[in-house]
Amino acid sequence: MRKPFIAGNWKMNKTIRDSIELVNSLRRELLDIENADIIVCPPYIALSEISDLVVDSNIGLGAQNVYWEESGAFTGEVSPLMLKDAGCRYVIIGHSERRKYFSETDEAVNKKIKASQNVGLIPIVCVGETDEERESKKTTSVVESQLQGGLKGLDSESVSKLIIAYEPVWAIGTGKTATPEQAQEVHRFIRDWLRNNYSSDVAENVRIIYGGSVKPSNTKDLIKQSDIDGALVGGASLESSFFGEIVKNSL
Ligand code: 13P
Repeated sequence: MRKPFIAGNWKMNKTIRDSIELVNSLRRELLDIENADIIVCPPYIALSEISDLVVDSNIGLGAQNVYWEESGAFTGEVSPLMLKDAGCRYVIIGHSERRKYFSETDEAVNKKIKASQNVGLIPIVCVGETDEERESKKTTSVVESQLQGGLKGLDSESVSKLIIAYEPVWAIGTGKTATPEQAQEVHRFIRDWLRNNYSSDVAENVRIIYGGSVKPSNTKDLIKQSDIDGALVGGASLESSFFGEIVKNSL
């Protein structure tokens, strides 16, 4: 039985002060929850402060991005070790907004996964198709090529330590959630792909979470699907009561 994994991706929202306020409120909201992994991913600049606030709690910390080099002349970038040092356990890699606005390729995703795992961070690897790709029935081939490129050269042990997030681009920030059946179909495809390329053990253990307009009202139906193990929540994670409800509805 895979433990539900619910992560809040705050994207480029919240000052340090706002981040502290939100996390304090989440700590109260989620105090009694034991049967889910709950993660928040604030902007880089708030990570260290938030880390101090969640250290003794049931809330884990993740970053929204990372660079693959260890250190050096890479102005504006942040290394895996720096994220560890700031208290992160997780890092989102290959989010569609990174792919779209910052031209992130599967090759970059691959390097970021490897560099992150080298220091013991757990990558949350995002895949998903655009509206156009779905319309032209390319969903599974797009997801497959993102998996092939992103996970290239990783052995079963490394893959078993990843979280995979299926985020259809057309459902992100649009209010247009994939139906539970649409999401389940792709999650099943990803799990079968893991089984065929690695092993049944890997396929059964890797958590595959859904992202794209997740709200308190649609969480239960999504999570009921046999291959959906949690959620990557954007907009609704910025409000503690909404995020709290999403976590509770996923149990
Ligand atoms: P929304 O929940 O705002 O659609 O964003 C989803 C997302 O991109 C999470 O990473």
